[in-house]
Amino acid sequence: MPMKNILYMVVMMVCFYPSANGQNSNRKQTDFRPAQVWHDNNGNAINAHGGGVIFFEGKYYWYGEHKLPGKSEATFADGGIHCYSSDDLLNWNDEGIVLSVDYKNENSDLAYGCILERPKVVYNEKNKQFVVYFKLYLKGVGYEKSNVGVAVADKPTGPFRYHHRFHGGGSPYGSGDFSMFKDENGALYHLTVRKPDKAFVIGKMDEDYYYPDGDYQICDGIELHTEAPAVIKRGGVYHLLGSGSSGWKPNAARYYTTDNLLGKWTYHGNPCHGINKVDDIGIEKTFGGQSSYVVQVQGKNDAYIVMFDIWKPENPVTGRYIWLPAGFENGNLTVTWRDTWNMNHFIKKEN
Ligand code: GAL
Repeated sequence: MPMKNILYMVVMMVCFYPSANGQNSNRKQTDFRPAQVWHDNNGNAINAHGGGVIFFEGKYYWYGEHKLPGKSEATFADGGIHCYSSDDLLNWNDEGIVLSVDYKNENSDLAYGCILERPKVVYNEKNKQFVVYFKLYLKGVGYEKSNVGVAVADKPTGPFRYHHRFHGGGSPYGSGDFSMFKDENGALYHLTVRKPDKAFVIGKMDEDYYYPDGDYQICDGIELHTEAPAVIKRGGVYHLLGSGSSGWKPNAARYYTTDNLLGKWTYHGNPCHGINKVDDIGIEKTFGGQSSYVVQVQGKNDAYIVMFDIWKPENPVTGRYIWLPAGFENGNLTVTWRDTWNMNHFIKKEN
């Protein structure tokens, strides 16, 4: 065989040699494949559940719950916060665990055995700090009394330093699922379901983004027990996507809008359409998922991606993700199932 051909074969073998789990980690992923296993740059299934995405200096960062292999939710699967970075929202590089639970100090707020859920990162321009918020149930306490845990970092990839915790919702029992919404003027809001009465409330954060600044107020028009909230602002309208409350089991999505965060919200029912053909689950169970975040796509016009989690409480590390493009009909959000889709779905921004 001529030398040229041998060389060609060697190059092809190196480029396309599949990694241990059968995935080719060199080949770029070009399509979103909702509800299918999503691999990172190392060929490992992405482990960032209940998460959110930020964009900073040209890169996206995805933060989510790191679930410990071999653990169920009942045997404490929460290992901390896992971060991935990406240029295109499709191909993700593992940046590791950026905040770990504490395996050594039983008295730490983050002692292993705590529940650490739904991390969301916000950048504070004033302090030049990345602040992560998460639901924190101290070890041995369970879901009745909750805290918002707060940790900070100087870089998006951390490491995050645990800073403090507070009771959300202005209640001594704290609050549950939440969204951190940063308005255009930099004001940050904590929208959350208050314990124990399950009212959906909003509170403004202080300038450091560390603590609520003053009282929370009830979001007029948002049903009790609304969980998994994700808020965006589009053309002066605030959109809130959420779910009902049925633990790890999926239920129907619910959707609200307002033009005043502190005013009345309008209910629009379930914005989802279609069927998840991977799991054969329709919209009465939100394709088998629960919302976690809506990410705005850079460089595209009016482009948003809605993120959902498929929870697997018996083996949480195998939980999967559903990312679908947001549609808007008469100004209202729609989320339509797609087996596969890609960024061509969105129109490029004109300069
Ligand atoms: C869900 C919530 C999850 C997790 C779960 C526990 O409703 O969205 O983050 O807390 O309950 O049962």
